[in-house]
Amino acid sequence: MKDVKKYIEANKDRFIAELVELLKIPSISADSAYKNDTMAAAEAVKKTLELAGAENTELCPTAGYPVVYGEKIIDPTLPTILVYGHYDVQPADPIELWDSPPFMPVIKDGKIYARGAADDKGQIYMHVKALELMIKTNQLPCNVKFIIEGEEEVGSVNLGTFIKENTERLKADIILISDTSMLSMEHPSITTGLKGLSYLEVEITGPNRDLHSGVYGGAVANPINILSKMIASLTDENNRITIPGFYDNVVEVSAEERAEMAKTPFELNDYKDHLNINDVHGEKGYSTIERTSIRPTLDVNGIWGGYIGEGAKTVLPSKAQAKISMRLVPNQSSEEITQLFKNHFKSIAPDSVKVVVKPHHGGEPYVTPIDIPAYQAAAKAIATTFGKPSIPVRAGGSIPIVALFEKELGLKSILLGFGLNSDAIHSPNEHYGIFNFLKGIETIPYFFENFSQLKK
Ligand code: BES
Ligand code: MN
Ligand code: MN
Repeated sequence: MKDVKKYIEANKDRFIAELVELLKIPSISADSAYKNDTMAAAEAVKKTLELAGAENTELCPTAGYPVVYGEKIIDPTLPTILVYGHYDVQPADPIELWDSPPFMPVIKDGKIYARGAADDKGQIYMHVKALELMIKTNQLPCNVKFIIEGEEEVGSVNLGTFIKENTERLKADIILISDTSMLSMEHPSITTGLKGLSYLEVEITGPNRDLHSGVYGGAVANPINILSKMIASLTDENNRITIPGFYDNVVEVSAEERAEMAKTPFELNDYKDHLNINDVHGEKGYSTIERTSIRPTLDVNGIWGGYIGEGAKTVLPSKAQAKISMRLVPNQSSEEITQLFKNHFKSIAPDSVKVVVKPHHGGEPYVTPIDIPAYQAAAKAIATTFGKPSIPVRAGGSIPIVALFEKELGLKSILLGFGLNSDAIHSPNEHYGIFNFLKGIETIPYFFENFSQLKK
């Protein structure tokens, strides 16, 4: 690859300006009020792919939001890289905690602030711009296909069908994804694993209506009291999950691999400072890095019921509800864990209440082996552009479609993300470093080059 830095330097202002335009579109897939905007984001991504030089671009309809497709086939005998990403974003709330409106991008201290800046619009644009760079400088070394979906943040529910129906069109040698983060810019890392996910909503019903908490309190089960106890019992004094069978299929990582992981540059004090916490919390016997990478976890994502308006209302509510997620590690099956949760949660409820457990979307865990040529191509690319070796790290986040890519297309994914954990994805004031954005554009062409050479 030649003139990579030169091309980026000459075009970076336009690259940033184009990303800013995309970030102005509130493509919130979870909220139907943003349907037109989400469609507009799909159109915008298709257009930039065309401008970059992609061919056969198309908005492929699904039962939900369309998949943006584009390709550049230079020679069918050469390898093909399939790039995946998502143009949808998380809801912006709590909106009052943003320092600037989430869909009015602001550049401050070398970072672009907007919902979707890092997850994943900024990262998909790195690939679009890298494609432009390789085409315009006549250096595209292999074929490339893009699928950018619009439902990742709501569980990619329709993408599976799209993949099954398009196995021929999606034929490739490797999948390349930038939708994860690095340890830091000083310690570049490549994500080697994603957690699976099991997500449920629970509803506890006591009496058939809200009651006076004096007249009935103490004599009729309060669903919020009961739900709190039930949730509290899901973890024990060592912060291990108490659902029978929960750990049965968990792959225990070898002592050697754990010793390797312990060398990961990580400052517990900085971590605590960043989050303004006095101490961390988690499964006994495991480090923070291990807890977020190789161990399964359980969290309440939301809990509600009763009176939450201003002032005090004395009420014994009829219902209490919660949204609960479990992050899964290799060999745990999302469906099985959901079933175990359901059975257990129902079994621990007292007769005084009724329990309904509603499963939401889920996904399977994924691991990228570090001894495959594609991983080495990525490591070599990082070494070239960062001037230092990369560190393999498993992520705590989930991209459910990655396991499905392997199952349906037989393809491994390289998770070459350029975000940082401090980018505040899914939180107020999400941002993406311009340095990270440009470094991504610089690194991707080297991955293309290295991968093409390895496959020769
Ligand atoms: N890009 C994230 C996943 C991610 C973030 C992986 C950071 C590794 C590091 C993705 O957009 C996401 O948010 N996924 C959801 C799952 C989905 C089913 C809603 C998640 O992990 O909560
Ligand atoms: Mn994402
Ligand atoms: Mn996300």
